[in-house]
Amino acid sequence: MKKFVFLFLTIWCVSLSFAQQYASFKSGELWKDDNGIHINAHGGGVLLHKKTYYWFGEHKVEGRIGNSAQVGVHCYSSTDLYNWKDAGIVLQVSEDVSSDIAKGCILERPKVIYNKKTKKFVMWFHLEPKGKGYGGALVGIAQADKVTGPFHFIRSTRATPKSWPVNVLELHKKAVLEQYKEERSNLGHEEHPDSVNTLGRDFEKGQHSRDMTLFVDDDGKAYHICSSESNSVIHIAELTDDYLDYTGKYVRAFVGRKMEAPAIFKRDGLYYFMGSGCTGWRPNAARSAVAPSIWGPWTELGNPCVDEGKETTYQSQSTYILPVAGKKDAYIYMGDRWCPDNAIDGRYIWLPVEFKDNRFIIHWHDEWDLSFFDKYQ
Ligand code: GAL
Repeated sequence: MKKFVFLFLTIWCVSLSFAQQYASFKSGELWKDDNGIHINAHGGGVLLHKKTYYWFGEHKVEGRIGNSAQVGVHCYSSTDLYNWKDAGIVLQVSEDVSSDIAKGCILERPKVIYNKKTKKFVMWFHLEPKGKGYGGALVGIAQADKVTGPFHFIRSTRATPKSWPVNVLELHKKAVLEQYKEERSNLGHEEHPDSVNTLGRDFEKGQHSRDMTLFVDDDGKAYHICSSESNSVIHIAELTDDYLDYTGKYVRAFVGRKMEAPAIFKRDGLYYFMGSGCTGWRPNAARSAVAPSIWGPWTELGNPCVDEGKETTYQSQSTYILPVAGKKDAYIYMGDRWCPDNAIDGRYIWLPVEFKDNRFIIHWHDEWDLSFFDKYQ
């Protein structure tokens, strides 16, 4: 009998802890899904579809090996943004070692958008072939009929092959000059001032694409925004109507500013950009910018973080800026607090975005909820 009561109590306690309900955001703490397990969707983004939010991100495993893709892309769903239901792995890495997305590859920053014309869900992500470090600088493209997958991998590619950017300079069109070869080999971390002409070098096979995001504008046009030219320039490229390819129209932005972790959102007809500097898993001070058109000109607005901890973006790196449905001026900064020694333990920093003096700012909050935005309604 005692055994029975003990078992009953254990099951009761366990189910109670599983049923934890959140009513606020507490950045940096463990954030459990409906199974009581810390959400595993790093470098993620959110898609709103039929009044439900879907959070897609990198599934990490324990230890340093978790910095490579051992499982795939994980999805969670929510109707209130606090409580997330596990929707499982929606894109699996492949056991086939010859696959572009073979287990052990690097698969980062997946973003999913919905194509109203084809009625398909399209996923783009940063892809590095297994065992090749970060030298590939590719994107992977996958597609699904249902929002929770399964997503089928289509192909990998460099960005915008055989196209020149809208704001190309004549020097980009020339072959890489001999005299710069030595200069380049002397640079510890490959630098790419225009004189080295990375665009010309990569014209045929396509441009680098590392940290990336997707953005769909009000007119349904979608854009791929990535860290290119050895992370020294951001490229913003238009996608074809089916969102599965580039149209070839793209622009170079923030030349030589070395930005990563791009996120884009739109408010009152203006486009806002948030990104980071390039210090790998270690956080740095965020950058922000505004433009009247997705093509620019982009004006930098400085570090949007304003409180103690701003030099490290409150120990995080941007991944997405989420517009809250049905609320005016309600945007949430989504960042990752990476934990490269035990990748699965990475935490999420979600903070409200505020607008002040023609820029956006982000304050730190130990705890906050969506009523924060009530003042704007
Ligand atoms: C970061 C980047 C991450 C990951 C990491 C690897 O700068 O934002 O997505 O690529 O570097 O060191």
